[in-house]
Amino acid sequence: MAVEYFPVPLKKIVVDTVPNFDLFIRQKDRYVLYRKAKFKFEHQALNNLMDNRIESLYVSKQDLENYERYCGEIRQEQEKIYGIQGYSGAFVDPVEVERYHDILNSYHVVDHAMFKPGVEVSFTVYYHEDNDMLPAEDFEGKPRGPWELTRRFAQEKEIMIRNEDKTAYRDFVRGVLDDAMGGPPAQQAVALREMSKIVIKDVMADPRSGEGIKQTNEAVGSLVEFILDNETSFYSLMKIQGHDYYTYVHSMNVCTFSVALGTAMGLPQKPDLEQLGMGAILHDVGKSMVDPKLINKPGRLTEEEFRMMKDHVTLGYNMLKEHHSLSDEVLEPVAQHHEKLTGIGYPYGLKDGDIGVFGRISSIVDIYDALTTERSYKKAFSPFEALSFLSKTRDDYDTDILNKFIIMLGKQIEKEAAVK
Ligand SMILES: [Fe+2]
Ligand SMILES: [Fe+2]
Repeated sequence: MAVEYFPVPLKKIVVDTVPNFDLFIRQKDRYVLYRKAKFKFEHQALNNLMDNRIESLYVSKQDLENYERYCGEIRQEQEKIYGIQGYSGAFVDPVEVERYHDILNSYHVVDHAMFKPGVEVSFTVYYHEDNDMLPAEDFEGKPRGPWELTRRFAQEKEIMIRNEDKTAYRDFVRGVLDDAMGGPPAQQAVALREMSKIVIKDVMADPRSGEGIKQTNEAVGSLVEFILDNETSFYSLMKIQGHDYYTYVHSMNVCTFSVALGTAMGLPQKPDLEQLGMGAILHDVGKSMVDPKLINKPGRLTEEEFRMMKDHVTLGYNMLKEHHSLSDEVLEPVAQHHEKLTGIGYPYGLKDGDIGVFGRISSIVDIYDALTTERSYKKAFSPFEALSFLSKTRDDYDTDILNKFIIMLGKQIEKEAAVK
């Protein structure tokens, strides 16, 4: 019987330990013995593998138990050494936290619905699992691509691409978008969502770029158009429950919810919905100027860290003000999305009439999306739990708008349930 192997991320094999199982390297379709069991895994070995850009080793399935025991021992060791370093979340090990930030900086999360079996791609797709990245092996093709997807990706796992493949992915999305025109709205929606994520991520990377703002305007224009044409099915544009928090995904969600809510309130497409959508997608641009380690800290922020985080509002507002093409209306969600009618919000502590309609809409939608998103240290609220939280703090929000939002989500949730 053929021996089967499973991939093991390189970082799971710790330097100066002695694994009690053989380690293999995959060369094309063959597995070649790399290191026999009971040999110390030395620093030099790790360096050589990293130099050769090898990210995974392989272990025979017969050694699965040995491998699991090894991982358990390493974990115990590390917990003893590091203790809980202020992180109340998934990671106790600072090396893991570092790794987590590396992944967020180097990869871009993509949507399963973009990948149907038979589709061809020219970039590698990775599974993001347990703070590791593993190349998906669900493709076949020539070593240098293109590769054809042979089966659906595992739905429960998050999938990502490398940042350097973003241009290739954008072309791919554009192709899907062109094919989907005139087709089922759901496919169009996914491609539009993916396009908007890329565009807003580019703006976050370079908020001064006029080209970035122009492209964001186009993407928002298409989103508004889609929501108006498919008023009853905007939910297909909405998030698929993600595994983690990414500012570009959050921005996209806040934009979609804001425009849908604006539509439910009867705002006209031009200029209102387009300005609202633009302000909503840009609302957290200032986070690009805050230390990313704070934004994605897997645990609660200290008071000092929270103060630094709050700066994202004024940083973003001041940065975007330099773009003369952006109107005051567009800047309103950016400046006011953390304000509360009771005056307890930030950065200005504005009250009641000082907060504009776009500010009121974005503050509701922003908190709703934050609550319903999973973080590495907390589970996501269900839509129902999030709405009941909002209702408890209802003095902070515009009652009429909040009611419209609740009704709108209720309808969408019902429709979703009916489809399933
Ligand atoms: Fe914010
Ligand atoms: Fe936000």
